[in-house]
Amino acid sequence: MSSTIEELERRRAAAREGGGERRVAAQHAKGKLTARERLDVLLDEGSFEELDMFVEHNCTDFGMETQIVPGDGVVTGSGTINGRLVFVFSQDFTVFGGSLSERHAAKICKIMDMALKVGAPVIGLNDSGGARIQEGVASLGGYAEVFQRNVLASGVVPQLSLVMGPCAGGAVYSPAMTDFIFMVKDSSYMFVTGPDVVKTVTNEVVSQEDLGGAVTHTTKSSVADCAFENDIEALLAARDFMGFLPASNRTGVPERPSPDPFDRLEPSLDTLIPPSANQPYDMHELVTKVVDEGEFFEIQPSHAGNIIVGFGRIEGRTVGLVANQPTVLAGCLDIAASKKAARFVRFCDAFEIPIVTFVDVPGFLPGVAQEHNGIIKHGAKLLFAYAEATVPKITVITRKAYGGAYDVMASKHLRGDLNYAWPTAEIAVMGAKGAVEIIFRGRSAEEIAERTAEYERRFANPFVAASKGFVDEVIMPHSTRRRVALGLRKLRGKQLQNPWKKHDNIPL
Ligand code: HXC
Repeated sequence: MSSTIEELERRRAAAREGGGERRVAAQHAKGKLTARERLDVLLDEGSFEELDMFVEHNCTDFGMETQIVPGDGVVTGSGTINGRLVFVFSQDFTVFGGSLSERHAAKICKIMDMALKVGAPVIGLNDSGGARIQEGVASLGGYAEVFQRNVLASGVVPQLSLVMGPCAGGAVYSPAMTDFIFMVKDSSYMFVTGPDVVKTVTNEVVSQEDLGGAVTHTTKSSVADCAFENDIEALLAARDFMGFLPASNRTGVPERPSPDPFDRLEPSLDTLIPPSANQPYDMHELVTKVVDEGEFFEIQPSHAGNIIVGFGRIEGRTVGLVANQPTVLAGCLDIAASKKAARFVRFCDAFEIPIVTFVDVPGFLPGVAQEHNGIIKHGAKLLFAYAEATVPKITVITRKAYGGAYDVMASKHLRGDLNYAWPTAEIAVMGAKGAVEIIFRGRSAEEIAERTAEYERRFANPFVAASKGFVDEVIMPHSTRRRVALGLRKLRGKQLQNPWKKHDNIPL
């Protein structure tokens, strides 16, 4: 008996060694943790239960039959984050560069299948040289098996990718189909074709970091959601982040006790809106003053800053927050902002997370570039997302809600459940000056000024919309948290279904 137990221990120790000391040292020298060290940081202490530790590849080409490392370059299993179950895979760059073999893929698929069956999130730690070159097409098949499961799991269990090393070629499409991507600065990159191929094909010279590093993908391409300084920061953020997400689309949002009173008043919000309509203010202030203990997890904070999206809690329960940001492009909706918010709204709706929207939007961004790049189609994404969402939707208009953008931003007409406005709200077809210049074209400067003042008096307020029931109530800014909390309480039992369909046809 003791010898069989020793044999097990010996085999386990061999698997835990991964690619061996030299390669582990090389991994550390790049500032990266190993696959197992990463899981130690991500998961609650002692909670990791490994599966498939002894899986080996089945390749006999290129002398591979003599190069067997138990586990085959990926550590898989389950564990808990703050006591909540998650399934994980962590690619081990020290074993064949974390490259994906048929068996490596089968291990990932196994935990994805389990996660789907039991309704728990999947977190992938990606650090891989891509397809296992020695295996050829078997490896491509393995990728496609993972892709298929990413798609089937989408909208059923949350999927988070942490890209913590290379992720190139077709391999990028697995993270791309998960809900959120976190990257690590300077040590991770994602691209379909690397700098050498780019140079050959287009003659552009670009570094790995510029082509597909964390900064590029969180500022320019928006492929990734958040960038972190190092592995530990990314993994700890992932722990925090998972605390906001439901386990699946069947469980509803997580709930935890909050010491923050639901009726906390914030008198400072009464003076948040500056005296002049053209003066910006930071919408983050409203967001953080409304959510529990000011804790807000922002998604894509460095991309499309004219809209803010992220998670917070009210009375200990997760809400998705969407807010126009007047300090960037005056809070206009452009292509990037529409896409960013639409994807977020759809995630919230898929996972039954109520949506709170703060509106201060002067309209869609004008411009040839916007039109030629398809603001019509991309703007429609956000409109579509809000309109199809059946989760509780609470909207607060703080200042401008003009034109089509008024409709888009979770208006009453798109089945907003509770639509509030601050007394400073201006809900109109457009700004006073623009409106008057059209209706009274060619009139004298004095008359234009007079008519503008008249238009502002009559329409730059929330009461016209309120008189029609488009706004349910004009509320005091200082009581926004109380109103939102009471609204969410009321809406907990909300039931609303869209007509049966195979799936919709959102303008992609
Ligand atoms: C097998 C691989 C591998 C791979 C790396 N290794 N990539 N083994 N298949 N794809 C092995 C190396 O042989 C080496 O083994 C170890 O991993 C570390 O690799 P290094 O090159 O020493 O590391 P580094 O200098 O950090 O460079 C990392 C890298 C480079 C940039 C990822 O390894 C690289 O370019 N690899 C090939 C990438 C690639 O072309 N992949 C296939 C793409 S096609 P030893 O024994 O020396 O430690 C693809 C299609 C997917 O992925 C399609 C899905 C639909």
